[in-house]
Amino acid sequence: MSSSDSFETPLRLAILLSGSGSNLQALIDAIESKELPGVEIALVVSNNANAYSLQRALKHTLPTIYLPWRQRTTGTQLIASKKGEMSESETRLSALLRLFRVDLIVLAGWMRILSAPFLEQFPRRVINLHPALMPGDGTGGTYTTKDGTTIPIFRGLHAVKQALDAGVKVTGSSVHYVTPEVDAGPVICREEVAVQPGDTEESLHERIKAVEHRLVVEAVRVLYQTLTSH
Ligand code: GRF
Repeated sequence: MSSSDSFETPLRLAILLSGSGSNLQALIDAIESKELPGVEIALVVSNNANAYSLQRALKHTLPTIYLPWRQRTTGTQLIASKKGEMSESETRLSALLRLFRVDLIVLAGWMRILSAPFLEQFPRRVINLHPALMPGDGTGGTYTTKDGTTIPIFRGLHAVKQALDAGVKVTGSSVHYVTPEVDAGPVICREEVAVQPGDTEESLHERIKAVEHRLVVEAVRVLYQTLTSH
């Protein structure tokens, strides 16, 4: 990994994922259609051996790795983090990212928490896609939509279902820097998505994903510009 404020072109991405990988596909398509000049995918990592995203990556002959992940329990995580230690899985991941000379890590449906000691190695080089709206600095408990309505911030798992259960009229997606607090780092870009009458978690998530496919490309473009302007 380059230092925190520079890289040598091309910008080498690692995409970390656990699921279907439609956002990985959006990045592949953008790179192949030359919408993201100066950017390449250096590595795809999945903690799920059966993830469809692995097939997408292999179809495009991207370096692709299945990395089994053992999550620490929260208590152990706190103790280890205080001691400044990464978990065994994080140590392996960190070594891979360095081996593949990765400049920017994109969590695109990555369902594992990364600890403070891991994140400290890659300052402002880890970004995440979260299927809900977050305020600019990523912190706090509420978000004000464009029409002036205040809604809760839906963090963690099942954010789309949380939005439906709360009965909000607008939700969306945010791409943000990753900090040790889950779904709470500064926002790079985001977009609102209206909840339709009769929406199910699946139908709403599909519309959110359609937006995310643009947002993830935009976020990488913004980061590329930010890093090259230093
Ligand atoms: C996205 O909705 C993202 O916001 C969330 O996980 C989903 C991943 O979708 N973190 P896909 O695997 O890229 O289709």
